Amino acid sequence: MSRAAVLALLVAAGCGPDSVFGPPTETECPPGGTSLTYTSFGKPFMESYCTRCHSSELVGSQRMGAPSFHDFDSLFGIKAVSMHIDETTGSGPAATNTGMPPDGAKPTKAEREMLSQWIACGMPQ
Ligand code: HEC
Repeated sequence: MSRAAVLALLVAAGCGPDSVFGPPTETECPPGGTSLTYTSFGKPFMESYCTRCHSSELVGSQRMGAPSFHDFDSLFGIKAVSMHIDETTGSGPAATNTGMPPDGAKPTKAEREMLSQWIACGMPQ
């Protein structure tokens, strides 16, 4: 297969304009670290914007199409796909990604920046 054909396939598979994915935000953890924790930020953020679809307690149509193994009701579930979270929901120097959530209440840009920073700092508990 030619390089162009492979590229075309990659685009068709979810890197095109319809994709929920944007580029990595390229956020870096500040030198002094972050004051954001799972308890103070990650958990309430996910509960405000994500877990009505992405939760281990939801099955079948309750998930409203949210893929399996993308469950954000635990820190473990967030860590498993944190790069994808940055690429769909985060904001930083390289991009502000607004693919998620698809509807309902949306996080502000400042909240998206906090999300990417918390991820870049290794998601402290
Ligand atoms: C209304 C339900 C709903 C809400 C709320 C929601 N999502 Fe999603 N999420 C989806 C659906 C549906 C998909 C699959 C979309 C697709 O592949 O086109 C998805 C896909 C994703 C993916 C990509 C999974 C993959 O690898 O293909 C990530 C990451 C994600 N969501 C993160 C989040 C985050 C973070 C939040 C909260 C800020 C959130 N979502 C809120 C329904 C939701």
